[in-house]
Amino acid sequence: MRQAIIEMLRSSGSDFLSGEEIADLLGISRAAVWKHIQKLRRTGYEIDSRERCGYKFKNAPDILLASSVKEGLDTQIIGKEIHYFPSTDSTNCEAKILAYKKVPDGTVAVAEEQTGGKGRLNRSFYSPRGKGIWFSIVLRPNFVPSDAPKCTLMAAVSIAHAMERFGLRAQIKWPNDIMFDGRKFVGILTELSAEMSRITYIVLGIGINVNIAREEFPSELRDLATSLMEMKGERISRLEFFRAVLEEFDKLYVDISKDQKHGFERMLDEWRQFNITLGKQVRVVTASTGEYFLGVARDIDADGALLVETTDGLERVFAGDVSIREDK
Ligand code: BTN
Repeated sequence: MRQAIIEMLRSSGSDFLSGEEIADLLGISRAAVWKHIQKLRRTGYEIDSRERCGYKFKNAPDILLASSVKEGLDTQIIGKEIHYFPSTDSTNCEAKILAYKKVPDGTVAVAEEQTGGKGRLNRSFYSPRGKGIWFSIVLRPNFVPSDAPKCTLMAAVSIAHAMERFGLRAQIKWPNDIMFDGRKFVGILTELSAEMSRITYIVLGIGINVNIAREEFPSELRDLATSLMEMKGERISRLEFFRAVLEEFDKLYVDISKDQKHGFERMLDEWRQFNITLGKQVRVVTASTGEYFLGVARDIDADGALLVETTDGLERVFAGDVSIREDK
């Protein structure tokens, strides 16, 4: 009911909408409308009221409700359908359930908090309430399954472009961590469901630390994690940043869907421009064996694999943990 009131007030723009009109449209009393307005104000909505005129929408709180995110969202495929969860264990799990229900390409699941956020390599991902953007996109691309890992690179490039809109320069550590001052504030987890030659769906899970102050991180993360707020030196609107990421991802996704070969090439070139891994001495822990080796990161190839020059020759790394050895 409250969502319907918000929609009505929003669509009447700068005009006041009388309590009577709202009550009639929703089949409730004027007193009930007033109670809902009071409740909305308590949750952070700014709503003007004037005697004999009614109510007018002023501002939404920084909550990632589907209707707020969609307001002015300029995309062709991504976020046409958005499912909002005040709290969930993991948006990747929610997205898989949605994918199973055959939601359209580009559907988004977003949560205010995750109680069991999942990271790569079976790690957990810290996702506190209202402090970040924890979301997953269901994708049904026409790529072959071996191209699925490129979605991770696409996500990193989109976030880098979104950051540019906020006057920030991204530093991407292969394959997908976005860093500031040696600490990470974005994590990406891509999960694939496929047949031998066809992708059924991809769930692209993205976690962005937005307004988390250093002292708010659990002590074990304090030296490893940071946030956009720490980088910018001021709070950032989660709603605006979220829209920017969805729009930037949409541009890349549409471009690549039209012309995969050139679209991927352009995206990989952009990834190279934002990367901080290439040309550096790295220590690579491979995902398959857990063993490590040292070398110099030379490039990423057309598949997005990291090419590392070692004393034994060139290694192609598809998955693993890379740390940059700044001292070498
Ligand atoms: C990593 O850096 O290890 C990847 C972290 C991915 C976290 C995001 S938050 C939204 C989505 N839901 C999850 O449970 N994980 C991803």
